[in-house]
Amino acid sequence: MFTDFISLADLSRAEIEDLLDTADDLKRKQHAGEVYQPLRGQTLAMIFEKPSLRTRVSFEVGIFQLGGLGVVLESGQIRLGQRESVPDAARNLERWVDGIMARTFSHESVVELAEYATVPVINALTDKLHPCQVLADVQTIREHKGEDFSKLKLAFVGDGNNMYASWLNFASRIPMNVALVCPPGYEGDPEIYAAAKKDTMGEFTVTQDVAEGLADADVVYTDVWASMGQEEESADRIKAFAPYQVNADLMAKAKPDAVFMHCLPAKRGQEVTNEVIDGPQSIVFDEAENRLHAQKAILLRLMNRGDDGLCPKARARRTNGATA
Ligand code: CP
Ligand code: NVA
Repeated sequence: MFTDFISLADLSRAEIEDLLDTADDLKRKQHAGEVYQPLRGQTLAMIFEKPSLRTRVSFEVGIFQLGGLGVVLESGQIRLGQRESVPDAARNLERWVDGIMARTFSHESVVELAEYATVPVINALTDKLHPCQVLADVQTIREHKGEDFSKLKLAFVGDGNNMYASWLNFASRIPMNVALVCPPGYEGDPEIYAAAKKDTMGEFTVTQDVAEGLADADVVYTDVWASMGQEEESADRIKAFAPYQVNADLMAKAKPDAVFMHCLPAKRGQEVTNEVIDGPQSIVFDEAENRLHAQKAILLRLMNRGDDGLCPKARARRTNGATA
């Protein structure tokens, strides 16, 4: 059972499917105008070491819609590991709030927050992973392509970054065919690739050949060439990734009914052209909307209290004999 949300690889297939079904249900409720507030009176600390539009707004609105309150801590406020240690920050926050969402540079910071805080911790992007985005993206793919992921191929075009790693984690739980199409040297974290490959029946390929990678793709996914924190590498990356721009020619190499996806923000004219991102195959704003519903499902599963008054993490710690 997951009691924090750090990586999709920590969840079972059934747990991921439950989150997706819950997200669909929460979306239906929201669209029907139903007020649903099972987290009334609960508070979520939202730590940001990096900028954000989608994550900030969707989590703050999401916790509010569920009856709770988000407390935003902008970059420079806590200065994890500098102004005070990660364990000390965790042991303070848990005295006031019922959950912590964190977007950090170092993945270790989120792991350490989860280790030391008695309240649940949600990874809202680190240098290594962005699982909330993939959960929302999977909800979106189910809406457009159905639920049988074993029949789907996703071509991830560009950097083997935190988004690609999160897709590998997902496909290690719910098998699908994932092809990374990238220039040499940008294949990403070999450990995540090896672990996913070991765990799954899904097919993973890595290729520099655009035609090979895009062949039979149902989903064409891309992301910025330089992630947050890599701005100094931008000029080199623009040169390396230029042949991998998702434009009309590249899209034509995928299936005719392929969808185009991007976690956003996009650098229009770099990794994707206006023609594609604004074109009929693009579902990028459906993905953005589903951040709200998918994350509300995560908040609900992690923070909802049972008849004993405890959330799953506190209950698990009590059962294991640790302080809750
Ligand atoms: N996709 C995403 O996480 O967007 P933000 O960086 O704006 O939160
Ligand atoms: N790979 C990007 C994702 C942004 C949502 C980054 O880390 O900046």
